[in-house]
Amino acid sequence: MLKRGLEGVIVAETAIGDVDGQRGQLLYRGYNAANLAETKSFEEVAFLLLYGELPTSEDLSAFSAELKEKRILPKSLETLMHSLPYSLSIMDALRTCVSSLNSTATWPPTKAEAIQLIALFPTIIAFWVRHSKGEAVPTPDPTLSHVDHYFYLLTGGKPEPAQSAALTAYLVLTMEHGMNASTFAARVVSSTESDLPSAICGALGAMKGPLHGGAPTGVLQLLKDVQTASDDPEFVLRKKLDAGEKLMGFGHRVYKTYDPRAVALRNVLQKSGGDQHVLQDAVHLEALITKLLAEYKPGRKLHVNVEYYAAAVMDALALDSDWFTPTFCVSRIVGWSAHVLEQAADNRIFRPSQTYVGGVR
Ligand SMILES: CC(C)(COP(=O)(O)OP(=O)(O)OC[C@H]1O[C@@H](n2cnc3c(N)ncnc32)[C@H](O)[C@@H]1OP(=O)(O)O)[C@@H](O)C(=O)NCCC(=O)NCCS
Repeated sequence: MLKRGLEGVIVAETAIGDVDGQRGQLLYRGYNAANLAETKSFEEVAFLLLYGELPTSEDLSAFSAELKEKRILPKSLETLMHSLPYSLSIMDALRTCVSSLNSTATWPPTKAEAIQLIALFPTIIAFWVRHSKGEAVPTPDPTLSHVDHYFYLLTGGKPEPAQSAALTAYLVLTMEHGMNASTFAARVVSSTESDLPSAICGALGAMKGPLHGGAPTGVLQLLKDVQTASDDPEFVLRKKLDAGEKLMGFGHRVYKTYDPRAVALRNVLQKSGGDQHVLQDAVHLEALITKLLAEYKPGRKLHVNVEYYAAAVMDALALDSDWFTPTFCVSRIVGWSAHVLEQAADNRIFRPSQTYVGGVR
């Protein structure tokens, strides 16, 4: 029987993470991701997802050092980016850079290759952001952690502790999320015994779509539409829903209750001491939208998803909306890599079936 969008179809066994859509719980290797986001660094959680265990202090030092060493942009990528048209989006530039790495990778993929990509993503993104605006890229600072270094490369400044905590929480909470479209794409490509960069190019292509990684930009637009309208917010939202518009930042294929990542991010933002006025507006609007969705789409169980508060984090950090989806990739490259490594360890090529409805002539 056809399952549109493969809804409910099990395509793999995994020990990496579990998304419990009914209870609103996300596990990374058995640990509650919301707790990890408040207590662990990017490096610790990335290590956990790749290796299956939280790092010892020696593991962590070695892993952090490897990330720092590998985050220096190779000359070949710098030359490549200089040859690209400025009009290319960050996602296209990132995918092109990853694609150019293919010649060095083989089957089966290795953790060293994965760490190389995890380390390079922030550098590639920040280089393209700066370069395409004709700005110089800051000199790498080996004293900064993975997350702080990304912020520094993008903005030229070091984050305040509250900003660092918010960005870390966002990146940890979005590292892994089960069999979403981009992760599935990565596993499908990898299942042909193709190399890691090719699998990641597939994932990046899937992530670029507005129904997946592109959502935070839509959330900001939604918030702007509501804030700048002369009519009251409920009227504006009803008009959108009457026109059949989807409200970005709400609904999820798996979560039929609150997305735990959204709740965790809201908590971190509330504690972080940032602009609480903006946050309160977002919380108020969330309640209104949830009420309206229950009225317009009864029984669909549409709640806030991670993208809604991701937009608030990006706003609090004053990150440009064009950087949202690439920033999502800075974290999700960890999950993609872990899945590709897992797929390769027990591989069978994906080859689903179809129902022919074209008739015979
Ligand atoms: C995430 C999403 C793609 C999940 O899609 P899905 O599981 O295929 O669910 P559907 O699109 O079939 O939605 C089921 C119903 O709820 C409606 N719906 C789902 N999300 C909605 C939203 N954000 N606003 C308004 N209506 C929505 C659909 O129109 C559909 O209505 P219908 O039954 O009358 O046709 C979808 O909820 C969406 O597009 N949300 C907005 C984009 C977003 O926030 N993406 C980030 C996800 S982390």
